[in-house]
Amino acid sequence: MDIIVRENYEEMSEYAAGVIGRFVRNKPYCVLGLATGSTPIGTYRRLIKMHREGLDFSKVVAFNLDEYIGVGINLDVPYEVDQSYARFMHEELFSHINVKKENIHIPDGLTKDPTGFCSWYEEEIKRAGGIDLQLVGIGGDGHWGFNEPGSSLASRTSIQALSPQTLSDNYESFYKKAGVERDKMPHFAITMGIGTILDSKNILMIASGVNKADVVAKCIEGPVTSQITSSAIQLYAGGVTVALDKAAASKLQNLQHYIHIERLKEEYGMG
Ligand code: PGA
Repeated sequence: MDIIVRENYEEMSEYAAGVIGRFVRNKPYCVLGLATGSTPIGTYRRLIKMHREGLDFSKVVAFNLDEYIGVGINLDVPYEVDQSYARFMHEELFSHINVKKENIHIPDGLTKDPTGFCSWYEEEIKRAGGIDLQLVGIGGDGHWGFNEPGSSLASRTSIQALSPQTLSDNYESFYKKAGVERDKMPHFAITMGIGTILDSKNILMIASGVNKADVVAKCIEGPVTSQITSSAIQLYAGGVTVALDKAAASKLQNLQHYIHIERLKEEYGMG
């Protein structure tokens, strides 16, 4: 696990965008797994800038982690009302880069058959050749996607009920700002499973801010447990990079060791 600590959110975002940008440059036909939330916004802004400077997304295939059930992209609905992740991705990234519309996959929160959709989504990922690089944040309750405490660490794409903490976090971060009443917020979501995420060939996890410090420490250094579903990162066999800002890294017991490893890798050109 490469744990990279940067001074602040901006530098962490710069690093994360650099990882994704290099990946796309080296493998133009790659399959990217993408995430929503407050954390990736800075990364996406930098990817947009890189695109303006020539980074080509025309061959990239994208799969998003999750979507609330009951919402979905409908560009006729004003942004304040539609807090779907499809809308978020459109606003924060897709409409600013040259990824092809037919290559974008986001769970359909408006599907009449959520269970059937989940199986189809898994198959689509397989048909695309699997995810080459999956970007993930980490929820306040330790989730990846919407794999809330108690979800199986082997789970596949499925329907999940949002935990009280996720409801509260996402209300504060998005719905409240948009003026949506709390009881109008969706309580269920379609999410890639932890097993789906672990099938990716590479994972890039990002986290920022002191509010994430405890959960980041539990994820990386605590026991592997379905109570912190992202702790499955410790069982992951592929290439994994965790990009943190100083605040999010502040509760890591072995922080100095991780910083030392990064320095050594830089020194020996292994970064
Ligand atoms: P956040 O969400 O980036 O808004 O903190 C992360 C997540 O829930 O995965």
